[in-house]
This record gives sequence, structure tokens and C-alpha cells, in this order.
Amino acid sequence: MLTLDLSKVTDFIPADYLTTREARLTEAASMLAHHNGPGGDFTGWVSLPRDYDKEEFARIQAAAKKIQQQSQVLVVIGIGGSYLGARAVIDLLASPNYNLKKKDTPDILYAGNGLSTDALLETIALIGDRDFSVNVISKSGTTTEPAVAFRIFKTMLEEKYGKEGAKERIYATTDKARGALKGLADTEGYEEFVVPDDVGGRYSVLTAVGLLPIAVAGIDIQALMDGAAQAMTALAVPSLDNPAWQYAAARHALYESGKKIELLACYEPCFRFFSEWWKQLYGESEGKDGKGIFPASVEFTADLHSMGQYIQEGERIMFETVVQFAPQGTFQIPNDPANVDGLNFLSGKNLSFVAEQALKAVILAHVDGGVPNVLIQMPQISALSAGYLIYFFEYVCGLSGYLLGVNPFNQPGVEAYKVNMYALLGKPGYEEQKAKLEARL
Ligand code: PA5
Repeated sequence: MLTLDLSKVTDFIPADYLTTREARLTEAASMLAHHNGPGGDFTGWVSLPRDYDKEEFARIQAAAKKIQQQSQVLVVIGIGGSYLGARAVIDLLASPNYNLKKKDTPDILYAGNGLSTDALLETIALIGDRDFSVNVISKSGTTTEPAVAFRIFKTMLEEKYGKEGAKERIYATTDKARGALKGLADTEGYEEFVVPDDVGGRYSVLTAVGLLPIAVAGIDIQALMDGAAQAMTALAVPSLDNPAWQYAAARHALYESGKKIELLACYEPCFRFFSEWWKQLYGESEGKDGKGIFPASVEFTADLHSMGQYIQEGERIMFETVVQFAPQGTFQIPNDPANVDGLNFLSGKNLSFVAEQALKAVILAHVDGGVPNVLIQMPQISALSAGYLIYFFEYVCGLSGYLLGVNPFNQPGVEAYKVNMYALLGKPGYEEQKAKLEARL
């Protein structure tokens, strides 16, 4: 399913980059498999494609059908790991233009992923007088952004449909036992889905967190899980031939040789939010203890005309990982008898042929400019290939964190801003911190 080409990396790292890491890779893979490394309590995602809750999966599919029948819009409320996975998959498989398409599934609008008043007002205006449902997603059940958004959309639903009617349109995805959202969902009688205890937010796209909104968009979530299961089987093999081992080792060797930034590049605009998901996955997993590759992303060829200069000639601190999908459609470039633009050498050629040559040209130029290139080749974009790629990146991320010597499954740094924000907002219990902060402002 996935082909990894590291030939444009090897000139930048020691020839024995893989063998010198074999022992650490073996240990890392064993820790992931046995859930006994740092953060092992949060490695439930490793076997999720096989061990997921089948009863809940069927409920997700049934809830998606009900939402499709009842509503023209689904508002997905969540932030970070409770948002990006669903959006990544929906954009990738159903298009970033999904809401503009003629379709028999609801529009998907996102809320609670920021604090912009204008964005909120726009979302409300976009719903208009259409029927809508809400999927509120928060593992902790206490995150400010989605909690504020949920208040607003819950009130709107209750005003429109009454308390009982609203209850039929609210779906809560949260912890199975703890948190304010769990308490509210129990009290109000919302349909509930669970974020498993052993799966952290950024690894949760293949749980109800991602699966319910994805299913509402009409995507085959069984195929998504099947793709992930294929990756799980393939990548569990402890071997230097394992592409996940090879990629993790190459990333680590590149980091040690001074390449501190990884640019994820793709030639498909529908991949943009997949990159956002990937950035959170790697940024939160590796960026700690003063270490970690900084994950960034570019969309080619568009960004060659904005970021291309820096990539080619700026600080030599980055490497690129290019994801290439096999094209689905074909489009032939027309002939122009007058050849005004001088492009007749392309007449009759498929646009995908031009894109392929662009990709090759860019890789060679960037490598010549001192930017090592990893190439990941995938079959056509599909639920199966997306599931495979999600699991591949998750698994490489786990291995990479262990190679780096960090706990890839915690995110202690995320709390710092939250504490300050609670204090400045006057949350009870934060009075001392509030006084300290205000003295500094
Ligand atoms: O990966 C993470 O843990 C975070 O990005 C969380 O998903 C994010 O902060 C949202 O948290 P919660 O789901 O508890 O609202």
C-alpha cells in the first residue's frame, strides 16, 4: 500500500543510520506493542484498528444515518485532537469543497476550535434556518473553546426544537466516566460516544472522535478502519525492512545532523487539513524537554511560489517529506493552433504527467539545495489508503518519540496557556495566578 523512498536522504546522514538504531527501534516497537514504555497508558491506538469497540462502531453508523435523515447541517464542536482528525479525513476524502457540493449528506461546519466571534457568527449565519445537529467532542470535557461553543449551540437547539427535540440532536463524544461534558450528557440524556482512556486526543481520529463526523459526511468508516488494520499488521513486523522503522530512523538521523524542521508536502489541495492533523500529532508528541523536530507543511505547487525561495536557499535546517497519491481522474491539456503561450509541447499530455514531472523536478532541486527529501507514495486517495496513512504516521510518531527519548503521549506544555487564561478570566481558584499575571501586563 505504501512505498517509502529514502534515496534522497541518504547523502545527508551516516550510511549506518539504520543499523546503529536497530536496538533502540526494537525496544521502541516492543514498548508500543506491550504498552510499557513512557506514556504506555496512552498507547491503546496501537491495536485500535483490530480491537475497537464493535458495538459502539455500529452505534456510530446508526447515529450518522439518523443525523443524515434529520439534519441538513452537522456542527462539529471540538479543538485540537478532538477536531483535526475528522476535518483531515473529510477534506481528504469528501473534498475541502464538500459543503459546496450537491449531495444527500449534511453540510459539516466546525465550531469551538478557536475564540473568534466573527467565525462563530458566520457559522450561525451559515446554518440559517436549516435543521441541524451537534456533535460535541471533548475528552476532558472541560476545554474552554468547545465548552463555550457548546453552550451557544445547545441554547440554539433548545430554542429551535425545545429541550426534548434538542436532546435528539446532540451527540456527546467524551470520557466514559469523568468531566463536565460527561455529567451534562448523562443528566440531559444525550447519545454518548466514548474517547477511550488509553487513546490521547491526537491519536483519536479512529475512535468515535473522528468516526462520527466522518460517517455523517458519507465516508465508508469500515474501509478507513480496514486500511488502518492493514497498516497495523504490516508495521508490527520487527525488522529493518519495516518502512516505519526506516522513516523513524531517518528522521532521527536527520534531526541529529541539524535538520530541525520537517516540511510535510503534498500536491493535493485536499491534503491541507491532513497536514494540520499531522502537525499536531508530531508537534505535541515530540516537542518537549527542549527537543523535537518542528513540523511544518506546504502545499505544492502553490507554495513553491511563496515558500519555495526559502526552502531552496534559506537556513539549511529542514527536510521534506512528500506524500504522493496516484491520480484518480485524467485531464488532457488542449492544443492551441496559435501556440500563443508556447505550451504546445504539452498538448495532449495529461495534467497528472505535468504534476509528476513537477514533483521530480522539485525534489531534485531541493536536494541540490541541501534539503533532504523523503518520498511516500500511496495509491489513489480512498478511505482504505487514508486509514493506512493515518496509522503509518501515528506509528512512526510513537517510534520517533521513543528514539528521541521523550514521552510521545503526554502534552504537559499545553496546560501553560490554559492556566494563564483561566486566571485572567477570573476562574475561581486561580486568584493568586491572576494577581501575578496582571502585575506583569
Ligand atoms: O491532543 C490533545 O490532547 C489535545 O489537542 C486535545 O485533543 C485538545 O486540547 C482538546 O482536548 P479535549 O478533547 O479534552 O477538549
